[in-house]
Amino acid sequence: MQNLDWSNLGFVYRKTNAIIVSRFRDGQWTSPEVCSDFDFHFNAFAGVFHYGNSCFEGLKAFRGADGKVRIFRPDENARRLARSAKRLGMAAPSEDLFIRMCCMCVSENIDFLPPFGYNASMYIRPVLEGSNPDIGINSSKEVVFAVMCVPVGNYSKAGSLSPVRAVISRNYDRAAPNGTGSFKIAANYAVSLYPYNLAHSIGYTELLFLDPATKTKVDEFGSSNFIGIRGNSFVTPLSDSVLPSITNKSLQTIAADMGMSVEKRAVPVEELAEFDEVDACGTAVVITPIRSIDDKPALEAPEVTRTYEIPVGDSCGKVSRRLYETIRGIQNGEIEDSHDWCLVL
Ligand code: PLP
Ligand code: COI
Repeated sequence: MQNLDWSNLGFVYRKTNAIIVSRFRDGQWTSPEVCSDFDFHFNAFAGVFHYGNSCFEGLKAFRGADGKVRIFRPDENARRLARSAKRLGMAAPSEDLFIRMCCMCVSENIDFLPPFGYNASMYIRPVLEGSNPDIGINSSKEVVFAVMCVPVGNYSKAGSLSPVRAVISRNYDRAAPNGTGSFKIAANYAVSLYPYNLAHSIGYTELLFLDPATKTKVDEFGSSNFIGIRGNSFVTPLSDSVLPSITNKSLQTIAADMGMSVEKRAVPVEELAEFDEVDACGTAVVITPIRSIDDKPALEAPEVTRTYEIPVGDSCGKVSRRLYETIRGIQNGEIEDSHDWCLVL
């Protein structure tokens, strides 16, 4: 076991033992290789460097209360990567290869898998990159699939379940109407970097994007999906420009199991004033409560048009906490995995 400060890992890069690599060439995938050299070779003309022939995934492995190692819903990530790759016109690994390489990655880096009890996990990052040399605007015919991992703790510096402030991004979109918002492609994150930098520089942790066609409905945060609790309802936007979050899908099932009604529908911006609790949800952020959302005409503008204060204030809402404890309990093997979500290594 590595000697790390497991309670304070944050969400930062750390060198681990190995990444797992397979290459798609001449219509087939090579056997996955364990590589300890992370500076691996790429042709300078590879599509990934020019035209963003790049998509990726994010999932987590956990060391349970029972000592077992669990990976949360890797089959879902395999399918989402295949969908992203199809949108980019690139080959994708089969579900079997994807899961096998995730398992290899966890095994090769097992000494970096945080012990139970520190609220930490192993973040697994599979990436798919166009690799053959080219100069035209083409989908890459050859691709590199690499699975890497990092031990992580809280995504937010505020800490787990500490509410953060968000701002609506009115003058920068992450997605276009009929664009790629619902795919986990690198390009979506590239366009969010500049507005994120602006938001951070004026004291906000999260950016809330609206539907790009009308700017009247809530889409999602730059890092995660939007969920709102209103009475006994779990509300989340139905939009074709948001990423289909596996965490959100799981929380919807948990909410329904708890007897809540699950509403997947358009969420008008003004409805932000009606929610009892609002959270960002995703693999990295898990459930991060939102304490307030500012609406500004532009991120650069000094004025705030309206502030939506979420009634939870400084603490996490009761329903959000219950959802959090349930999903984390399942991931840690403390609550029965009745939907068969975890792959036990
Ligand atoms: N939305 C965006 C833009 C994301 O980057 C992520 C993270 O993967 C999510 C939502 C949450 O998806 P998931 O729960 O599958 O991690
Ligand atoms: C994830 O949650 O897996 C993501 O890819 C989001 C990113 C902000 C780390």
